[in-house]
Amino acid sequence: MQKKIVILASGGGSNAEKIIDRLHSSSEIDVLSVISNNRQAGVFDRVKPYGVPCLWIDKKFYQSDQFLFLISNLNPDLIVLAGFLWKIPKALVQNFPQKIINIHPSLLPKYGGKGMYGANVHQAVKESGDDFTGITIHYVNEFYDQGAIIFQNQVKINATDNVSTIAQKVQQLEHKYFPEVIEKILKN
Ligand code: GAR
Repeated sequence: MQKKIVILASGGGSNAEKIIDRLHSSSEIDVLSVISNNRQAGVFDRVKPYGVPCLWIDKKFYQSDQFLFLISNLNPDLIVLAGFLWKIPKALVQNFPQKIINIHPSLLPKYGGKGMYGANVHQAVKESGDDFTGITIHYVNEFYDQGAIIFQNQVKINATDNVSTIAQKVQQLEHKYFPEVIEKILKN
C-alpha cells in the first residue's frame, strides 16, 4: 500500500526538494503536503514544480487543536522535519509516536538544542576544533534534538574548512542520506 508523508520546513527547502524528487515519483510514496511556518520560505518555490500541495501556517493555528486535526486528517505514515524551526507541540508528539523524524546538521548529542539551527551549528563545530561533523536523523520527542537516533553519518573537517565549507559537506550528506533513510523507514 502507498505510504504517505508530510514535510514541515522553515527555510530554503533543499532537503524537502531532494525528498520529493527521489520519493514522490515512486508509486509507493506520496508526499501529501509541504507545510511551512514561514510565508517567505524558499521551500515553496522549490517544490512548486512537483505540484505538491503547500500550506503556510501561523503560530496561533500551529498551537491550536486545529493543527493536530489537520495532520490527523492527512493521516501520514511519517511526518518529516526538514529544517523546521518550531518546537513540535506535545499533542502532536503524543498522537504520532515514532512517526515524526528530524534531520539535524551535527553528530548529536553534540551541538543540538534550542537555537542550534543551520549556521549556528556549523559555527559551534568550527570553534570546537572537532575533527568530524555530520548528520543525525532521529525521532522527535518533546525535547529539542533528544529523540532516539535512527541514523548518523560523518565527514572529516580539515583545518582549512570554514563555516561555509562545513555546511556544504554536511548538506551533501543530508541530500544523499535523508531520502534513503525515509524510504527505509517507510518500507519497514
Ligand atoms: C538542514 O541543514 C537541516 O539539517 C537543518 O536545517 C537545514 C535546512 O536546510 N535543521 C536544523 O538545524 C534543525 N535543528 P534546507 O531548508 O535547505 O533543507
